[in-house]
Amino acid sequence: MNDDIERVLYSQADIAEACGRLGKQLTADYQDKVPVVISVLSGAVFFTTDVLRQMEVYTQIDFIDVSSYNGGTHSSGEVRLVTDISQDVSGRDVLIIEDIVDTGRTLKFIIDLLKDRHAKSVKVCTLLDKPAGRVLEAKADYVGFVVPDEFVVGYGLDYKGEYRNLPYVGVLKPKIYVNK
Ligand code: PRP
Ligand code: MN
Ligand code: MG
Repeated sequence: MNDDIERVLYSQADIAEACGRLGKQLTADYQDKVPVVISVLSGAVFFTTDVLRQMEVYTQIDFIDVSSYNGGTHSSGEVRLVTDISQDVSGRDVLIIEDIVDTGRTLKFIIDLLKDRHAKSVKVCTLLDKPAGRVLEAKADYVGFVVPDEFVVGYGLDYKGEYRNLPYVGVLKPKIYVNK
């Protein structure tokens, strides 16, 4: 698996440092609230568990499964709701946890859904932000790293469902996905 990686962008230590930094900010900002934390399956699972353990605040955790890449390197342009959250968010402070914001389609879809359901506040914490990929306006409030415009995998991010369990984020060798 490691042989398929061109270079490591963010090491395990870099990610741990980012989780600590974001956790501190979230702890301060949500001190007097009990947010519903919504982790976006499947990519955000690894980041969610790490950053939440650095957030010293009462929280409730929920999951939403939306998909638009279908395992490939490009957004299909259509966001599908695969599995919905399990609780009512009306009047609640909601914190969305993502692994990456690229075109912004996924995030916009989820934010619109939560606003329609009358969430009191909706904020976004993402490990990676790729502004060069943006098609729709979607802004994260808490960002671990701003990434260059390359296809990255690891620490939750996949190609064809694989590489999610790499402990770091790296650039996939183009030969793995070019002409496939
Ligand atoms: C990926 C990633 C984000 C989204 C970001 O999910 O985990 O959720 O795409 O891309 P966007 O800003 O262009 O919408 P994906 O659809 O691949 O599903 P997955 O998390 O199950 O891999
Ligand atoms: Mn995802
Ligand atoms: Mg994916």
